[in-house]
Amino acid sequence: MSHDAIVLCRLDELVEGQALGFDPLGTGKDSVFALRHGGEVRVYRNSCPHLEVRLEYRKDRFLSVDGSQIICYAHGARFLPDSGLCVYGPCLGQSLSALRWHAEADWLVLEAGQLEACAP
Ligand code: FES
Repeated sequence: MSHDAIVLCRLDELVEGQALGFDPLGTGKDSVFALRHGGEVRVYRNSCPHLEVRLEYRKDRFLSVDGSQIICYAHGARFLPDSGLCVYGPCLGQSLSALRWHAEADWLVLEAGQLEACAP
């Protein structure tokens, strides 16, 4: 494992249709979140393209009730889980920032260099 990588969680902790927030910089706020959708893992910066605020309304609540879309609870923007594209709301057509990650053994590992200016 490279020294600038950040381990977020075990891959099997990401359950289909749910998301988990992480605070890899230790700011006290979850600045990134990860989810599993259609079997694929995605990691996004926790920042809405509308006003650059965090999306969730409480810990780990990033998704719609049925798990089919990511929601910004500030003004109700909806995003596709697989691409981060906004399909409804004030930032229609804009996208969440996807973060690069890779698997090491059973772990989801994020590159630390992507996290600067990542704490709305
Ligand atoms: S801040 Fe996300 S929809 Fe307005």
